[in-house]
Amino acid sequence: MCSIIGYYGKGFAAPILVKGLKRMEYRGYDSVGVATESNNQIELKKGIGKVNEVNSKIHLDTLPGKIGIGHTRWATHGKVTDFNAHPHSSNSGKIAIVHNGIIENFEELKKQLEEEGYNFKSETDSEIIANLLQKHYEKTGDVKETILKTVSEIKGHYAFVAMFENGQLAAARFHEPLIIGIGQDDFFLSSDVLGFIEFTDDAIYLENGTFVILEKDKFQILDFDGEHAKYGITKVSKEFGDAYKGDYAHFTLKEIYEQPETILKAGEKSQEAIEKTVDYIRHSKNIYVTGSGTSYNSALIAKQILSKYAKIRVDPIIASELQFAPDSIEENSIIIAISQSGESADVLEAIKIGKQANCKIIAIVNLLTSSLAREADVVIGMNCGPEIGVAATKSFSAQLVILYKIVQKLSNNKITINFEKFAESIVETLENTTKIQMIAGKLKEISDVYILGRGINHPIAIEAALKLKELTYIHAEGIAGGELKHGPLALMDTNVFVIIFNPNDSTYADTLTSAREIKARGAKIIGVSDIESDVYDYWIKIPKINQVLYPISEIIPVQLLSYYAALEKDTDPDYPRNLAKSVTVK
Ligand code: F6R
Repeated sequence: MCSIIGYYGKGFAAPILVKGLKRMEYRGYDSVGVATESNNQIELKKGIGKVNEVNSKIHLDTLPGKIGIGHTRWATHGKVTDFNAHPHSSNSGKIAIVHNGIIENFEELKKQLEEEGYNFKSETDSEIIANLLQKHYEKTGDVKETILKTVSEIKGHYAFVAMFENGQLAAARFHEPLIIGIGQDDFFLSSDVLGFIEFTDDAIYLENGTFVILEKDKFQILDFDGEHAKYGITKVSKEFGDAYKGDYAHFTLKEIYEQPETILKAGEKSQEAIEKTVDYIRHSKNIYVTGSGTSYNSALIAKQILSKYAKIRVDPIIASELQFAPDSIEENSIIIAISQSGESADVLEAIKIGKQANCKIIAIVNLLTSSLAREADVVIGMNCGPEIGVAATKSFSAQLVILYKIVQKLSNNKITINFEKFAESIVETLENTTKIQMIAGKLKEISDVYILGRGINHPIAIEAALKLKELTYIHAEGIAGGELKHGPLALMDTNVFVIIFNPNDSTYADTLTSAREIKARGAKIIGVSDIESDVYDYWIKIPKINQVLYPISEIIPVQLLSYYAALEKDTDPDYPRNLAKSVTVK
């Protein structure tokens, strides 16, 4: 998703901004740009591609000046072109802006501005902000009044940073993240603490509906009525600054290999929050679990394990769907919101609906300073360290471990889990990848993969399909085993591969029968199981373990398979095309 950044200080802005943008690359983007101010003049450079590529072509980091703004764009309005990349300057060239979010009334505002004589160079909604600012600044000559007038006219979700030719920097936030970093001699503005973490760990999380004006050695934070707004300085975790690949070829591979540690550490620092959650669940009639993508797949697992082991019914809800059925939430219930980033706009919107229904919000989140963590009543930390690869891997395992810990307590320890032993068995899986790499080679020319699982293995089939899609761009579909004969069997022929999740649980015999039916139609079968069978063309062995843990032990080999297939197909496993790590727009 778009990342915005700003710098105001004593160092040269451009190299600092480029470095910050590079650190936020994991959020996903398609183009990049920087603008700086020096001697009351704004200079701007931008282009499509990765930060390093664009920088080596047009040298973003050589722009002069000690004040600047930067951006990585993830296209929403208008194609991926140099013109649509940010920053955008106003018609006079005296103001430049970077923006994250969506301006919903941009067409109306653009028409209005065009009638007043303004021209637009891009197809973006963002460019209207630059010209609106110019219009108001020319009238008022005052940055505060200019921002107030502008935010009163634009509708939607946004965070933007505006740089004025006289060297003033201002930034406003409305439902998109914006953080101020307070350095020794400088100020930073950023969508993510990674934008400035190597310079300072003192941060101010701007409240919704506020803006900041930076001037020499001082700043003022105001609300959209122009009144001084309250703020606090938070120490942010330096841990998230230590995001290096080490000896691994990619972050994704590193994060897959970190999972034995993830299993041991997930929720470790949140014992009290887990107790509180258990208490809330015991005393609530309705429990909803929400999330997007992989985090929603965890919600599907939550439903299965809570009903099986604790006899508690929970309703999983896709976060983006809740807005279309807000009445499905009973008053005074509990919503467990799962999100690695804590910044997914859909999840934030879902909890907003929950709060309106007076629900308690429990967040299972990796980033403890995120918007979700700050909005929730109870926060359980995944504690799995930074996840930079766009595809969720270790955060999924962390989410499941936390859910197991909750279920363990709810079942009065009827289920016992030895996480140490489990982590050791995962090490074994990770040490034996030759076969997985060989199978990945077979997927290179394949365009369709179907993935089958019953019971608790069905959400894992859905999650496995998501991993394959994201990392390899192969069409993949998770299917509930019993549904095979109700349609998908028609797709089975010699051109497809089918992954069968078939552990030694109550689903085993039925799923083996499905495998035989598929094999009879000529498809190739990859069996993921702790029991070998002649029906599998390729067998991926998983450890013989406590049944409840099968989901994690099944998904890890498919994460690896997807990773190695991505290498075979020459796609970038860390940054899949069109995707963003932090989906901050609806
Ligand atoms: C899948 C993936 C996405 C995220 C989804 C939610 O590999 O990365 O589907 O799971 O965008 O993100 P969070 O958990 O940050 O809310």
